[in-house]
Amino acid sequence: MALYSDKVMEHFLQPRNVGVIEDADGVGEVGNAKCGDIMKMYLKIDDDIITDVKFETFGCASAIASSSMATELIKGQRVEDAMQLTNKAVAEALDGLPPHKLHCSVLAEEAIQSALEDYNRKKKNA
Ligand code: FES
Repeated sequence: MALYSDKVMEHFLQPRNVGVIEDADGVGEVGNAKCGDIMKMYLKIDDDIITDVKFETFGCASAIASSSMATELIKGQRVEDAMQLTNKAVAEALDGLPPHKLHCSVLAEEAIQSALEDYNRKKKNA
């Protein structure tokens, strides 16, 4: 069996939503100390709906595919729904990740959580 599913390969080779949102409403950056990979998420939010999302990932193929899939999953969602996104949902949407690569999808979950927390913090202080 191939190590990676077709979906992982597709999102790795043609990642969706790569880039930066200059005037983002929430930004989150997380890293994994063990592998050294870093993921940064930018969210544009209107009326508690995620209208745009972009990411920059310096990492492995699974991290890039996970970021890409995670952005697709939360785009158009309400903030409270996006908060519920789990790495399991990201991995499932990618038709699975090898067990030693599951932490890459955890990074995507954490990056989105961190960007949403940043948004909530800014909203509170506005
Ligand atoms: Fe660490 Fe993929 S190997 S995020």
